[in-house]
Amino acid sequence: MKKLTIVGAGGYGKVVADIAIKNGYEYITFVDDNPLIKDCYGFPVVGTLKDLKNNDTDIVVAIGNATFREKIMKSVTKDRLVSLAHPNSVIAEDVTIGPGTIIMAGAVINPGVKIGCGCIVNTSSSIDHDCLIEDFVHVAVGAHIAGTCFIGKKTWIGAGAILSNNTSIISDVTIGAGTVVIKDIKEPGIYVGVPAERIEKEDCANMKNSDINKKSERELNI
Ligand SMILES: CC(C)(COP(=O)(O)OP(=O)(O)OC[C@H]1O[C@@H](n2cnc3c(N)ncnc32)[C@H](O)[C@@H]1OP(=O)(O)O)[C@@H](O)C(=O)NCCC(=O)NCCS
Repeated sequence: MKKLTIVGAGGYGKVVADIAIKNGYEYITFVDDNPLIKDCYGFPVVGTLKDLKNNDTDIVVAIGNATFREKIMKSVTKDRLVSLAHPNSVIAEDVTIGPGTIIMAGAVINPGVKIGCGCIVNTSSSIDHDCLIEDFVHVAVGAHIAGTCFIGKKTWIGAGAILSNNTSIISDVTIGAGTVVIKDIKEPGIYVGVPAERIEKEDCANMKNSDINKKSERELNI
């Protein structure tokens, strides 16, 4: 029997559970550090992160924040992490996908694409030929990445954003919803608008601030 534990019993966890069912998982449970959450999508929350060590299921981390996702994934045995793709996603034969990456319904990933671990390729997004997507990137719902783009680690591409072909974005960047990126982004930060421009704000979406990282370690008990 295929068994899966999903870390994070929120909205993202629910979507992952549905994809897991469609991938033949028959035994699905959640862990979540919020004691008030008892179940998700009809499946029980059986404990907290610490309880992951007490079973031998496959694991997926369904936490939207890239910093949290990375920390949790690094705390579990690598060979238990699986990647999942919705059966109604379209993935070319030679695409490589790292462990812990989730491909959602309607996503299209074309030939030559390489996707790292812990990424989210969200509903109805597309990644065209020969793109390189590093670890813990989130391509949000309806975002479109044209051919031969590079997206650095933990960068977040907002809903409906567009990357023009051959553009590169370094790590730890947040691209706002509906933004159009037409040239390389070489400095971390938040970029919005058409064409994309940087706004002067602390990037809470990526939580790259070291104090927040320390706090997250404490809160996550890892
Ligand atoms: C970019 C984003 C992260 C910024 O959030 P924030 O740090 O809270 O910033 P604020 O809402 O305070 O906005 C700051 C300024 O940027 C502007 N702005 C914010 N998001 C924008 C966007 N997507 N496009 C254009 N302008 C935007 C605001 O109007 C505001 O302008 P002002 O200072 O002239 O009033 C957020 O607006 C966003 O787009 N999130 C994407 C959500 C998403 O895609 N979710 C997908 C889930 S799958």
